Amino acid sequence: MSSEKLLVEFENFVQEKLKTKKSFHPHFHKAYLQMFQAGGKRFRPLLLLNVVDAYQNQLVPNAMFAALSIEMFHTYSLIHDDLPTFDDADLRRGVKTLHISYDEVTATLIGDALNSDSFLLLSNSPYADDVKVALIKTLAQNGGGEGMVLGQALDCYFEDQRLSLDELKFLHIHKTAKLIATSLKMGAIIANLSSNEQKNLYDMGIKIGLLFQIQDDIIDATLSEEEAGKPTNNDSLKNSFTNLMGVKEAVRYRDTLKDALLEDIKVLKEPLNTKLEEMIKRYFS
Ligand code: IPE
Ligand code: IPE
Ligand code: MG
Ligand code: MG
Ligand code: MG
Repeated sequence: MSSEKLLVEFENFVQEKLKTKKSFHPHFHKAYLQMFQAGGKRFRPLLLLNVVDAYQNQLVPNAMFAALSIEMFHTYSLIHDDLPTFDDADLRRGVKTLHISYDEVTATLIGDALNSDSFLLLSNSPYADDVKVALIKTLAQNGGGEGMVLGQALDCYFEDQRLSLDELKFLHIHKTAKLIATSLKMGAIIANLSSNEQKNLYDMGIKIGLLFQIQDDIIDATLSEEEAGKPTNNDSLKNSFTNLMGVKEAVRYRDTLKDALLEDIKVLKEPLNTKLEEMIKRYFS
């Protein structure tokens, strides 16, 4: 199935599944859906779905549960990332952030709810119990205190202090690359690939994720708010690749990593090789 078709199926699944039980709260339920409905690149679900489609295409409908789960977790991380105490951003995915539309309590709690509910969705998903446990473990390990949350802690704590290139890579790998690698690994778990193949895909995902964050830093330094759908020129105090090496050098570094990655993925079996090549070319130009 093409990436376009997988994305259409994914959005249909989101419409059908992403719900909260109603209550008398005046805006909680609307706010819960708001950031999701605003869109986004859906990069992580598409990676996961492409792995499953390449190896076991009959499992794509089932894989939607895991794809939605990782996008919920990612969306939680963005909602918290935009809070005044983090990056203080008023726009995300082209719409007002939740603490601007409502208040900080709502934004914090919707993030918390999406975090918990991503695991609830996995636990209610139609996989065998051992597959569910493996998926939950992978997401928790890469999203929590050993993963994205640690990356965000480093990002916020070391604002105003220059890190070395190695420290910057460590930060970016935790903040962004681990969840991107997790998307590929969750796809590999659902497709029942061997632990060796799962590890290969995870390691490749770390490289894709590092590239993703470099690209994100370049977006902040070079695009307008309208083009990016989020505030830009917002990273002036951050340990970003563009601040450490300058925009020109960061673009060169991105292109070098991208070319190396396109070589690396040639070892993957078809059709995954072609599918990832197409995604890398589309997202990193
Ligand atoms: C932005 O992620 C935050 C990073 C981890 C760099 P995305 O660029 O995937 O954001 P959306 O999902 O498209 O809004
Ligand atoms: C955020 O990184 C990564 C997350 C874990 C959410 P950024 O702060 O660079 O993401 P943007 O630029 O706001 O999307
Ligand atoms: Mg941030
Ligand atoms: Mg941010
Ligand atoms: Mg950024």
